[in-house]
Amino acid sequence: MKKLWKNCHIATMQNGQYSSIEHAAMVTSGQHIHWIGTFEDLPADAYSETIDLNGAWVTPGLIDCHTHSVFGGNRSVEFEKRLQGVSYAEIAASGGGIASTVRATREASEQELLASALKRVRCLLKDGVTTIEIKSGYGLDYANERKMLRVIRQIAETLPMTVRSTCLAAHALPPEYQDQSDAYIEHICNEMLPKLHQEGLVDAVDAFCEYLAFSPAQVERLFKTAQSLNLPIKLHAEQLSALGGSSLAARYHALSADHLEFMTEDDVKAMAAAGTVAVLLPGAFYFLRETKYPPLDSLHQHGVRIALSSDLNPGTSPALSLRLMMNMGSTLFRLTPEQTLAGVTTHAAHALGLQETHGTLETGKVADFIAWDIEHPSEIVYWLGGDLPKRIIQHGNEISI
Ligand code: NIG
Ligand code: FE
Repeated sequence: MKKLWKNCHIATMQNGQYSSIEHAAMVTSGQHIHWIGTFEDLPADAYSETIDLNGAWVTPGLIDCHTHSVFGGNRSVEFEKRLQGVSYAEIAASGGGIASTVRATREASEQELLASALKRVRCLLKDGVTTIEIKSGYGLDYANERKMLRVIRQIAETLPMTVRSTCLAAHALPPEYQDQSDAYIEHICNEMLPKLHQEGLVDAVDAFCEYLAFSPAQVERLFKTAQSLNLPIKLHAEQLSALGGSSLAARYHALSADHLEFMTEDDVKAMAAAGTVAVLLPGAFYFLRETKYPPLDSLHQHGVRIALSSDLNPGTSPALSLRLMMNMGSTLFRLTPEQTLAGVTTHAAHALGLQETHGTLETGKVADFIAWDIEHPSEIVYWLGGDLPKRIIQHGNEISI
């Protein structure tokens, strides 16, 4: 059953560039791309369906590679406090911040968490996101991390998206382990992670390497366990201070290190050598009114892949539009629209280890693509919010949302 998609231009995003094919066509066979090229070169074949895309620009489906989409409650009151001058770290130290979302998440049932997460993830899907990574990390004990991870799997069953789940049990210290952070890490390594993995709930492991969370030594202990379970690694690193988490992540061949405002040139070199993706999160940078920029020149100079993501979470980035994050990536971090689009397609696919199947439009890859009613791909980055007219195709099927 081959479908012909015609009358379009295609930004394939191969090699991190638009790699445009104008006056293009694409043939999908089931869930995959069977052929892609100019309409002129289209081989004669029989198609079960021909779809006219009316001159749209086609890009790969967007990939949001770092989100905390599942959580109870929200932190708008804390947002007000921060605007009055109380810092994120001060709020965290006084029992607010992540800890307050942990309380709300523990209180919520699986059904409640699923219902609220679906509303948020649907916003991203409507915006053009067809692949999403979602982290646990607001449960912080076996039962509640499991509850979050089960919700993530249910999101995958409910929505037409590829969903990757990341265990972020090492996000913050739960109240039961106050002043015993080493013991909590041991508990994750010896009990929680192996069990959750055995239940098929975990695709990758992440941690928050920060002075107000876990030390590099504790993160390394967790990485060793992840490695022994053959689970890929990611890391929140260098968001508020320079602890060398990104170098540590690179040493363990992490898929990505994320945030990175405080990273050093040595960290950049280590990540470049390891092929670890730098995931920048302009929403958190903006929402925390951060003034320290990630070392963009150095990242470019050393050829580190730069992905962008929403970091959708209740505390530092309540972001419901990846396109808005793309605009911020260009305005705040001076990425060109082309680099920004690469950051939410091919580079984001690498940050999830999905580069063989996702992130670019080429023969053999999954047929996840967006047909945008725009004049040029830079428009995807240009508009601030709103709903950009589009058709969303996931696994070869147009979806209605
Ligand atoms: O990616 N940095 C740690 N984790 C989240 C924030 C989580 C929260 O404040 O609830 C982040 O910014
Ligand atoms: Fe995060």
